[in-house]
Amino acid sequence: MSIKIVGKWYIKTFNKVTKIIKYQHNNLIKNGIKGFLFHGVPGTGKTTLAIEIGRYVALNFGGISNPKDYNKYYQILDCSTLAHARYGETEAHIHKVFVDAINSKNQGIDFSVLIFDDADGLFITRDYGNKLEAWYIGQINVFFHELDNLDTSEICVILTTNRLDLMDKAVIDRIYSIEFPQVPIDILCEKLKQMGFDLNFNSGEIKKLEDEIKNNPIKYKTFRDVEKKVYDYYITNIIEDDW
Ligand SMILES: Nc1ncnc2c1ncn2[C@@H]1O[C@H](COP(=O)(O)OP(=O)(O)OP(=O)(O)O)[C@@H](O)[C@H]1O
Ligand SMILES: [Mg+2]
Repeated sequence: MSIKIVGKWYIKTFNKVTKIIKYQHNNLIKNGIKGFLFHGVPGTGKTTLAIEIGRYVALNFGGISNPKDYNKYYQILDCSTLAHARYGETEAHIHKVFVDAINSKNQGIDFSVLIFDDADGLFITRDYGNKLEAWYIGQINVFFHELDNLDTSEICVILTTNRLDLMDKAVIDRIYSIEFPQVPIDILCEKLKQMGFDLNFNSGEIKKLEDEIKNNPIKYKTFRDVEKKVYDYYITNIIEDDW
C-alpha cells in the first residue's frame, strides 16, 4: 500500500523529479538527466519518496490497474545485500538489472525506475587509492558503463544514501543530487496527526502525543521516531487495554 506523503518540501521534490522523468519520456530526450541521488540523515524519507516516484511512473506510463504490476515499472535493489554477493555476481546482477529494464520495452513497459537503495554499500569512494580490490573497481565500472549508455527517455535511476561521504565522486558527478533536510517539527506533527487519524486516536490522545513531540526535539527528529512513538502508544494504550 502506498503511504500518504506529508510535507510541502516532499511534495515539491516529488513533483520536480516526476516532471523531469515525464519531460524526458514525452520528448524522447535520450541523453538527459540519468538519475537522482537522494542523500540525507536516516529516517528523512529518501527510500519512501523514491518508491512513490516509482509508483507514479507505473500509474502514469503503464495505464495498469493491478498494483501487483507496479513492480514491473520500478525495481528496488537493496545495495547492502547486493554488495555481499559472491565474487563477480554483483557485476552480473547490476548488468542484468539494466538489460531487463531495456528489454521490458518488449513487454509494453514504457519507462523503468531503478532504485539503488543504500547505494553507499555498492559505490564506496575510490579515494582509498590502490588499496581497493579489483572486484570493487569492476563492479563500479559496470555501473558507470550502464549509466553512460542509459537512454533517459526510457530509464532513470534513483540512488539513496545516508553516507554521502562514502559515495564515489564519479557517481555524484553523473547524477542530480538532492539533499533531504532534517524534518521540521510541524511536518512531524502532521505525520503524527495523519497516523493518529488512521488509527482512530481521539483528539485528546493526538494532542498529548503532539505535545510530547514538540517538547522533545532531541528525541523526535525523523519520521521514523514519530512512527515508533505512535505504534508504541497504540499497542500499549489502545490494543492492550482491550485484552
Ligand atoms: N514524506 C513523508 N510523509 C510521511 N511519511 C514519511 C515520509 N517520508 C518518510 N515517511 C515515513 O518515514 C519512515 C522512514 O522513511 P524512509 O525509510 O524513507 O527514510 P530513509 O531516509 O530512507 O532512511 P534511511 O537513511 O535509514 O534508509 C518510513 O517508514 C515512512 O513511512
Ligand atoms: Mg532508506
